[in-house]
Amino acid sequence: MLIKKINSQTKIGQHGPIDAAHITRADYVRWLTESDEAAVERLFEAARSVALAHFGTGIYVRGLIEISAYCRNDCLYCGLRRSNRQAARYRLTEEEILASCRRGYTLGYRTFVLQGGEDPAQSDDWLANLTARIRTAFPDAALTLSVGERSDEAYRWFREAGADRYLLRHETRNEAHYATLHPSDMSAARRRRCLYTLKSLGFQTGAGMMVGSPGQTLDHLLDDLAFLEELDPEMIGIGPFIPAAHTPFSHRSAGSVSLTLRLIALLRLRFPKALIPATTALATLDPMGREKGILAGANVLMPNLSPPGVRGKYGIYDGKCCTGDEAAEAWQALDDRLNRIGYHMVCGRGDYLY
Ligand code: 5AD
Repeated sequence: MLIKKINSQTKIGQHGPIDAAHITRADYVRWLTESDEAAVERLFEAARSVALAHFGTGIYVRGLIEISAYCRNDCLYCGLRRSNRQAARYRLTEEEILASCRRGYTLGYRTFVLQGGEDPAQSDDWLANLTARIRTAFPDAALTLSVGERSDEAYRWFREAGADRYLLRHETRNEAHYATLHPSDMSAARRRRCLYTLKSLGFQTGAGMMVGSPGQTLDHLLDDLAFLEELDPEMIGIGPFIPAAHTPFSHRSAGSVSLTLRLIALLRLRFPKALIPATTALATLDPMGREKGILAGANVLMPNLSPPGVRGKYGIYDGKCCTGDEAAEAWQALDDRLNRIGYHMVCGRGDYLY
């Protein structure tokens, strides 16, 4: 009701108000191709008011711990692909990860995100055991895993061991496009099956895609939006594609910040309660990317909580910001930045409000 009210009061350019519950494919096309900057600004305003209605001016923060830079996969866009012999590699030990959580907890973080490549050395058993240790040590913190495609059984172990959330981007819904971004031993359908399994296990589940990945068309993005509508995830992570050295796409151009922001706004309107981060990729391409993301409706930031010694070695793309205000330690600096645009960081788990 609230959203309807907000939208019925919000005139968005010549397209008129958007009925958030019934955004059509044609609406998406119009907004993604709109050339009138003032109209786009009104789209951001509408998305922002929806976020404000649900979350106020609080921004949820998650401490991101990058647990392994090894990956068995060979995704063509990713700097951590296994055939990249130039990539810096590291893997954190259980004790290093627990120490990072402790550091984060002291700083004020109440969500830890363990993200890594699909590293066979960090087995399902090992991860389930680690999950249980973190759950015991930090009973009031949420734990998010982002460790790729695993068996249904492994996902169940993680859930039973106390993981609350799982991030696994679908990357692109379009099968042909997926096949140009991934080697033939990977499958878009399997990725989607994983997402449905995660949802059925009761994980707050995150999907999402890169914006402007090589070969991506507007139609592909519309397929992504349709897939997200079908999956109805609790979290949606999107960020611009950024070329990574020593990958087949190293010379391709980066995705568009403006398109990413419009997508964030449309996702906020369509998924009013979703947890949508202003991603590091956005902040990497634009020094004001975080702020712009929030002003387009994002409500989550994920500062880097990896041990400082390995930061910068998790090279999924070039130029990734990982020090300065991106660091988890920069809580105050980040809060100051948010204050300047009328927001503030929230210390708390920041669960999805069903
Ligand atoms: N540019 C932007 N995002 C990337 N990712 C991987 N490689 C890149 C890149 N070159 C994203 C993928 C993955 C997430 C962890 O990082 O969407 O799911």
